[in-house]
Amino acid sequence: MSVDIASEINLQDELILGTDAADALFLEARTANSWAEDEISDETLQAVYALTKMAPTAMNIQPLRVSWIRSAEARERLVAHMADGNKAKTLTAPMVAVLSYDTDWHELMPTTAPHAAGMVPTFAANDALRQGMAANNAHIQAGFFIMAARAAGLAAGPMGGFDAAGIDAEFNEGTTRHAFMVVNLGKPNGIVDRERLHRLDFDLATETI
Ligand SMILES: Cc1cc2nc3c(=O)[nH]c(=O)nc-3n(C[C@H](O)[C@H](O)[C@H](O)COP(=O)(O)O)c2cc1C
Repeated sequence: MSVDIASEINLQDELILGTDAADALFLEARTANSWAEDEISDETLQAVYALTKMAPTAMNIQPLRVSWIRSAEARERLVAHMADGNKAKTLTAPMVAVLSYDTDWHELMPTTAPHAAGMVPTFAANDALRQGMAANNAHIQAGFFIMAARAAGLAAGPMGGFDAAGIDAEFNEGTTRHAFMVVNLGKPNGIVDRERLHRLDFDLATETI
């Protein structure tokens, strides 16, 4: 286990995860820019979603929608909207997921949040509220998505550098979905292409009140 040397605690003593799991999920996991060539099976994608969907969301609204970009034709259409620095890796990744949030999440509330279904008309009448809740909660789900990919043995490369309106026109036309993150996925190839950037220390990033 790589230890947090800035911390005065023995990290492993404080965790319920074994060292292998802590390393794979947090301490050794890196944002990837290249991958092994192995194809990613549909079963693996289903496993990634099976974990992702357990993320907590406000009232359990679950606004995240995932588009798996598997075909070469769809991949070309996606890459056209990626920032130049993101094009090559998005073209070569074994799998790519476009993460969108659905602003009409309230329509599923009778299923996702029956305890709060009486609020559907309130949400239906307030586009700004629905949009904000969709974005906030889908980003929580995106964090779980990255961790779920790691748990399924994949290395994730999340990206925000793309033309969101272009991706929406390409893949979300006629829907209430809005792309907010693109994640390259593949089995790790062991290549570390850059040093880990500094993470903020406990004392800088937190306070105890
Ligand atoms: C929301 C988000 C957007 C990002 N956008 C890009 C991007 O457009 N291009 C890129 O190469 N990396 C992008 N990254 C990768 C980050 O730079 C990387 O996750 C961060 O430096 C930590 O790297 P590490 O996990 O290897 O420590 C993005 C990451 C996140 C979470």
